[in-house]
Amino acid sequence: MEGPSPRAKTVANKWLFLLLLGLAAAAGRFLQAHGQLDNLGFISIDCGLPESAAGYVDNATKLRFTSDAGFIDSGINYNMSAEYITPSMGRSWHNVRSFAAGARNCYTLQSLVAGLRYLIRATFMYGNYDGLNRPPVFDLHVSVNYWTTVNISDANTPEIYEIITAVLADSLQVCLVNTGSGTPFISGLNLRPFKNGLYPMANATQGLVLVARANFGPTDGVIVRFPDDPHDRIWMPMSRPTEWLEISTTKKVQNMEDADSFEAPSAVMQTAITPVKATSPIEFSWDAQPNVNDPSPGYICILHLSELQLLPSNALRQFYITLNAELWDPRGFTPQYLYKNAAYNTDPQHAFRHYNVSLNATANSTLPPILNALEVFSVLPTSGITTAASDVSAITAVSKNWMGDPCLPKNFVWKGLDCIYAVSRPASVTGLNLSSSGLSGNVSPSFASLKGLQYLDLSLNNLTGTIPDTISQLSSLTLLDLTGNNLSGTIPSGLLKRTQDGSLTLRYGNNPNLCSNGNSCQILHKKKHSMVAVYAIVPIVAVVVIVLLLVLLICMRINKGIISKNLTPRNRTTSVHTSLQVNNRRFTYNELVAVTSDFQRVIGQGGFGEVYNGFLEDGTQVAVKLRSEYSDQGVQEFLAEAQTLAKIHHKNLVSLIGYCKDMDYMALVYEYMSEGALHEHLRGGENNTRCLTWKERLRIALDSAQGLEYLHKGCNPPLIHRDVKTSNILLNAKLEAKIADFGLLKAFNSDRDTHVSTARVVGTRGYIAPEYEATLQLTNKSDVFSFGVVLLEIVTGQPHILNDPEPTGIVLWVRRRLVSGNIEGMVDPRMCGDHDINSVWKFTDTALKCISQTPEERPTMKEVVVLLKECRELEAARVNSAAGYYTAESGGNPNSNAI
Ligand SMILES: *[C@@H]1O[C@H](CO)[C@@H](O)[C@H](O)[C@H]1NC(C)=O
Ligand SMILES: *[C@@H]1O[C@H](CO)[C@@H](O)[C@H](O)[C@H]1NC(C)=O
Ligand SMILES: *[C@@H]1O[C@H](CO)[C@@H](O)[C@H](O)[C@H]1NC(C)=O
Ligand SMILES: *[C@@H]1O[C@H](CO)[C@@H](O)[C@H](O)[C@H]1NC(C)=O
Ligand SMILES: *[C@@H]1O[C@H](CO)[C@@H](O)[C@H](O)[C@H]1NC(C)=O
Ligand SMILES: *[C@@H]1O[C@H](CO)[C@@H](O)[C@H](O)[C@H]1NC(C)=O
Ligand SMILES: *[C@@H]1O[C@H](CO)[C@@H](O)[C@H](O)[C@H]1NC(C)=O
Ligand SMILES: *[C@@H]1O[C@H](CO)[C@@H](O)[C@H](O)[C@H]1NC(C)=O
Repeated sequence: MEGPSPRAKTVANKWLFLLLLGLAAAAGRFLQAHGQLDNLGFISIDCGLPESAAGYVDNATKLRFTSDAGFIDSGINYNMSAEYITPSMGRSWHNVRSFAAGARNCYTLQSLVAGLRYLIRATFMYGNYDGLNRPPVFDLHVSVNYWTTVNISDANTPEIYEIITAVLADSLQVCLVNTGSGTPFISGLNLRPFKNGLYPMANATQGLVLVARANFGPTDGVIVRFPDDPHDRIWMPMSRPTEWLEISTTKKVQNMEDADSFEAPSAVMQTAITPVKATSPIEFSWDAQPNVNDPSPGYICILHLSELQLLPSNALRQFYITLNAELWDPRGFTPQYLYKNAAYNTDPQHAFRHYNVSLNATANSTLPPILNALEVFSVLPTSGITTAASDVSAITAVSKNWMGDPCLPKNFVWKGLDCIYAVSRPASVTGLNLSSSGLSGNVSPSFASLKGLQYLDLSLNNLTGTIPDTISQLSSLTLLDLTGNNLSGTIPSGLLKRTQDGSLTLRYGNNPNLCSNGNSCQILHKKKHSMVAVYAIVPIVAVVVIVLLLVLLICMRINKGIISKNLTPRNRTTSVHTSLQVNNRRFTYNELVAVTSDFQRVIGQGGFGEVYNGFLEDGTQVAVKLRSEYSDQGVQEFLAEAQTLAKIHHKNLVSLIGYCKDMDYMALVYEYMSEGALHEHLRGGENNTRCLTWKERLRIALDSAQGLEYLHKGCNPPLIHRDVKTSNILLNAKLEAKIADFGLLKAFNSDRDTHVSTARVVGTRGYIAPEYEATLQLTNKSDVFSFGVVLLEIVTGQPHILNDPEPTGIVLWVRRRLVSGNIEGMVDPRMCGDHDINSVWKFTDTALKCISQTPEERPTMKEVVVLLKECRELEAARVNSAAGYYTAESGGNPNSNAI
């Protein structure tokens, strides 16, 4: 029978080693090659690899490495000095990126999932790349937090630094900070996502900085990492055949079902050490490593334990674990046969100099203690407090030249920026001096998102285009300086009002094409110019007047038509809506009375009028939307909706069965959606409506997205809905979702137009895209924004405007929660946690993309459909996975010190 076997016969029963800060190893030498990869969510960057190089597959891990060009804009590439390059050395060490300029240079890693934990590994090998023979010392920051000091001991030693950190946003920065002891450089940067539940001690307020990760036993000097460790941790071999008894098994060591917080690879767990004599302990120790920020950092020690021998019933392996005289569990530990147990402290241990851990057998034990693997981390207090996410996205949209967080740490505030700091809230930008910064193009609408802005200096740039009126909504803004640009158009009325009431000082001199007041242009120095301006304006005004007149005439004609045809017999139709004849039935008013049993049961209410329940002659249930005489929806909108609906057909758009235009009565007859509007289900509860499951929500989101995608892409000309909201998404008995209410549809010829301008903003407050509200320029991306709000409602179960305690839009509400790290608290508790967290995250991320401030950053509905399908697959994978691991917040071991 095959089984574990003792491998070494030595007498040493006590050992001690000093763990090194940072893992020094000739990595790449011992690693074994394995098969090809799929998409793992890994980022593997070979820093300093020229942008032109296509990237390569690493010989050892078979992971694909890419150039760092897409992750950072600063720095210069160098090759290591030739004499340090050896044939066995992995390729990623050959070149570095070096940062002689700037105090802080940052890599930005994007497309992360907020709320997940990530392993970040930075690697350094000096190799005298600069010919100075002077290894530098510098700091690393992860986002706004000090991470570690990189102290390069010599040119020939690779240094590897690793941290496990919870990521609170969808991107993360790794910054190299010059501390005056040489030029920072970097060889490689890796990012590995951890699925939810792993390393529960890493959270919003603490990161885990790796001190040591060791694999004990007969390891043959093999470093275990990817693919043997799917999470690509690096397990360093630790073998002292002369000191420890080594045992191993070829049998697989299993994860603890639902509760494995570490998932140490089986290859690591299959080997272990024990002391020779059952009565002797296993002991090890390390020294505290104070750093510039923390004289006494706390430590977390994780012992990975598994029984490798099938013990007879009269045998017992049971031992105490003590860390600096603190006994972890007075009952002692007994590892399970071929299962991955772990013993660890959840509360970091603080001592000033020295840490020692001892494993010794209990009095009842017949076997000595066992140790398979070990990890030691120092705990890094991290501040979740960064600059407010909305400010960061606004300000990075303005200029791409900045590095790191705008306001933090305080000694690295971006040039030209003023910030305000609060104890527990995100920092926010109060002042922005971009004078003489070489800005060109339009004034970014993103400035309007800097809600705390008090002054904005854009003077002496080459800005063109018009001034966005949205800036006037910045209630704290007291100074706006636009002097010395090439702005044109007029000063928006909002800004004028603010200057008139004295709340804002506006400077706009030296903008030759800017008109300061209505139609009358600023007095210009050259008369010629002003004449041109006037000529240019008069024809435009004339055209506008003509267009208005035409519109009026058309409206009057239609109104007259309706009046004069009051008594038109039912089979004759006017030419205005002949198209309605094609596919749909025309009802008389009397027929509608019969269908609805004299308009007995109201099932809904729209801007257009009330919606009644009805039954056709054949028993088909229908919804009859009757235009009320008080409706604000005009005849035009009625006709628009009817004509559009007659032409478009899609399974995710509510279909029109017929219409009525009989005397002054107008009505539309729709298919009946028995489950009503989505928002009733999300808010539900009172009417005993069952709460929607995550799977149902995903399906509803996807259905509605497909409906909108059809309007945007499947119709010719493309159509913009303009009033996407949860009360316009209806559900049928099978909970299939369909988009309803097409009264505000707008056609938009995408071949020629980039947008359509509308006379007034229509839609529903809280759902309207900022640029549409600001500029009246409508694109299909305006619908995408509204749909993003719908997605947020679906995942949070909150209404689009909350009382929190003042009325707050859901967009802001969600952003606040994301920023404050209260991520779980955002998900609708009525789903009872019964969802795949990755699916929820991807979904939320999709919603956030949809509500991006600028339309260009938003995905198309087609892309949204693809993303939502991926969310659905993540959830389906969870449901299908027999292990059920993903269900979990399985997170941690509730009993902190227990196995
Ligand atoms: C990687 O493998 C290829 C092909 O086997 C070989 O040509 C190359 O020298 C290897 N590189 C290193 C650094 O070992
Ligand atoms: C580094 O070496 C490669 C060839 O090994 C060469 O193509 C490249 O230009 C060098 N880069 C620098 C910055 O010297
Ligand atoms: C870097 O390490 C060396 C040797 O380990 C030490 O003497 C030196 O003080 C360290 N430098 C800094 C800035 O920590
Ligand atoms: C992170 O973990 C530490 C230690 O368990 C705990 O004190 C702290 O409150 C946690 N922080 C958060 C944000 O959960
Ligand atoms: C371990 O620590 C305890 C208390 O700090 C000390 O008494 C003991 O001698 C240490 N053992 C070793 C081996 O360092
Ligand atoms: C093992 O540790 C326990 C707890 O620290 C201690 O009481 C006991 O004496 C130790 N036994 C041996 C054999 O060292
Ligand atoms: C040792 O065994 C005895 C008898 O079975 C039991 O009473 C005692 O609690 C055990 N001690 C430990 C530490 O498990
Ligand atoms: C504006 O652009 C022109 C050329 O396009 C350049 O000569 C001038 O210096 C720029 N002005 C400012 C203030 O940047």
